[in-house]
Amino acid sequence: MKLILAPMDGLTDTYARELLTGIGGYDLCVTEFLRVTDTLFPARVFYRRFPELRAELKTAQNKISHTKSGTPVFLQLLGSDNTAMAENAAKAVQLGAKGIDLNFGCPAKTVNRRGGGASLLNHPEQINQLVHSVRQVVPDDIPVTAKMRLGYDDQALSHDNALAIQDGGADWLTIHARTKKDGYRPPAYWDALAPISALLDIPVIANGEVWSVEDYFACREQSGCDSIMLGRGAMVTPDLALQIKSALVQKSIEPIDWPSICLLLEKLYQLMIDNPELNEKYIAPRLKLWVKWLMIN
Ligand SMILES: Cc1cc2nc3c(=O)[nH]c(=O)nc-3n(C[C@H](O)[C@H](O)[C@H](O)COP(=O)(O)O)c2cc1C
Repeated sequence: MKLILAPMDGLTDTYARELLTGIGGYDLCVTEFLRVTDTLFPARVFYRRFPELRAELKTAQNKISHTKSGTPVFLQLLGSDNTAMAENAAKAVQLGAKGIDLNFGCPAKTVNRRGGGASLLNHPEQINQLVHSVRQVVPDDIPVTAKMRLGYDDQALSHDNALAIQDGGADWLTIHARTKKDGYRPPAYWDALAPISALLDIPVIANGEVWSVEDYFACREQSGCDSIMLGRGAMVTPDLALQIKSALVQKSIEPIDWPSICLLLEKLYQLMIDNPELNEKYIAPRLKLWVKWLMIN
């Protein structure tokens, strides 16, 4: 059973990953997506999106591609060019990435217009080729995983897409239990994951609308998946993963209090301003967004 911190562009950068995994409960995180067009990126592009690859940021356990508290981090790639995706995946692994996740769910217009993200959900054969191309160049001991939505306009191709991903050689599949058309509107259709999970031989990770421990159990029940990826709920309730893990062993913990959340934000700010490469254009929107999510709680 795994709890995974979702990739969230503009939110879950290396600093958020460090803070949230430092609280505990997470088994894995995924970087914000790195958009691949038709070129092979130089190392600095990978380091910017995925600073945990830098040797000088190695954890106490001497590991790269892990947060400071020792949680593995996978790189997420988004794109539709088989060769460029494979070349960039291979380069990331050469730089030390411990896993590659492929994005088949991004709803952004700019991404979809260029045939990437959720727009690929209308083309299972293309998804299959992309997964296969990346799997072929990534060593067997490094997982290649994928994240999809249930479909583009509707769920008609959800089984085809899931099979395409499995047959392409993915190690597991995360499903955001909504279509692109559903956007982020509740509900998430957790029950639609159960037949997909039954169809596949690889593990399915459920994602969408898990905001509380109760949601975790409801999602597990309806989806049949015990591994879950937490997105916005992780920002709203920074100790959500720890609360879920504690509930699973029938241990009760004090939920994180407001002073501790303020300290968390202060630490986030400090980590960002300590990096001379970041200016207020980077720092301000990220702080603002996280404060916005925290205010929901
Ligand atoms: C601000 C924001 C940015 C996101 N960026 C990404 C991304 O880079 N890659 C990705 O696969 N999904 C991305 N997502 C989708 C989330 O990973 C997740 O699938 C979605 O939020 C549903 O989970 P939740 O209901 O737990 O938030 C993003 C979501 C949000 C709200």
